[in-house]
Amino acid sequence: MTEFGAEIYARLDRLAEISAEPGRLTRLFATQEQARASDCVMEWMRAAGMSARVDAIGNVIGRYEGTSPGLPALMLGSHLDTVRDAGRYDGMLGVVSAIACVDELNRHQQRLPFAIEIVGFSDEEGARFGAALLGSRAMAGTFDPVVLDCRDASGITMREAMARAGLDPTGIASASRKRDELLAYVELHIEQGPVLESKSLPVGCVTSINGATRLKVTLIGQAGHAGTVPMADRRDALAGSAEAILAVESLCAERPDLVGTVGMIEARPGAGNVIPGLAAFSVDVRAPQDAVRLDAVARLSAVFEEIARRRRLALSIERVHESAAVPCAHWLMAQINRAIAREGVAVCELPSGAGHDGMAICAIADIGMIFVRCAGGVSHNPAEAITIADADRGARVLLAFIEAFQPQA
Ligand code: HGY
Ligand code: MN
Ligand code: MN
Repeated sequence: MTEFGAEIYARLDRLAEISAEPGRLTRLFATQEQARASDCVMEWMRAAGMSARVDAIGNVIGRYEGTSPGLPALMLGSHLDTVRDAGRYDGMLGVVSAIACVDELNRHQQRLPFAIEIVGFSDEEGARFGAALLGSRAMAGTFDPVVLDCRDASGITMREAMARAGLDPTGIASASRKRDELLAYVELHIEQGPVLESKSLPVGCVTSINGATRLKVTLIGQAGHAGTVPMADRRDALAGSAEAILAVESLCAERPDLVGTVGMIEARPGAGNVIPGLAAFSVDVRAPQDAVRLDAVARLSAVFEEIARRRRLALSIERVHESAAVPCAHWLMAQINRAIAREGVAVCELPSGAGHDGMAICAIADIGMIFVRCAGGVSHNPAEAITIADADRGARVLLAFIEAFQPQA
């Protein structure tokens, strides 16, 4: 068997150099960096005997035909976009590992009774426009065109950004795929959590993906002179936001299976001697059960309203992204577990706290996921790390799964 790990590692290092920012990895949707990374991945796909193309929303799609042309496909892959100041394994590991598997099949002129497609999704993180799963939702036919009017930090709409990147915002519907074209979707991804490391296991089988709600909360008070307005007379939007942000932390700390994060905040006009008249912040709430998540979001909205009323602030809450929790298909989990066992690893099943493209693709195919251990569970951080040995193990498990794959009867 070819040594997978070293080549996967080298390719991930190569992709990590393609960034908008020197010295750190940031590769957002519909940017030049994304186009360069897509070209690099398509080169690897073609060298592995695949055809390769980019669809209307920038997803990279490689295809390796089966024993006859045009067969339904087992879809593999992950995303090629990153968060800001990202690690180099989140997303890219799944794409590069899948290409390594097809490369191995191709070297041995092996053809299977199904096609294999590998997708590098163009925007899973939602780091540029807030709404996530853009590429996979377009592929699933569930893309909401309202998102095209979302603006990035510099005020560019998604529609404008796509046009500037040579993508066609009016042609997104052409990216959608039919259920009968696909046999299943299976994604290999780093765990982004501590479980596998705590069990000294290199890989695991995912049971479900937690649901997520993302809000944009805006509080509007009155800008004023920091030196002259008495404290009792202020309508300070940033102080109100601070109280609201602590409420997110305390409410979501009530249950071990509920998490809440405020990752972004802005205050205007943004001068040290001006009382902020406007403040806007993000809220990200997740839980394995949708009812728990939706209840937390409803309770937080009520807390924000009380804070706004008491502080005489105007409040707006925009639901920027929502994805329900998604179970992995048991029939795929069984085949993934058999592949893990075949590679001599104890089987471990675990949920995903992080979101993945399978949350969208589940609309057109059953989904499965293979997790690879990452150091300390750290992710969305340049310290994200895996070993070459675990990269190799993950790819071998994926190849064992592919070679033994039996479509659902
Ligand atoms: O935010 C997430 O869970 C994923 O990394 N996009
Ligand atoms: Mn991520
Ligand atoms: Mn990811």
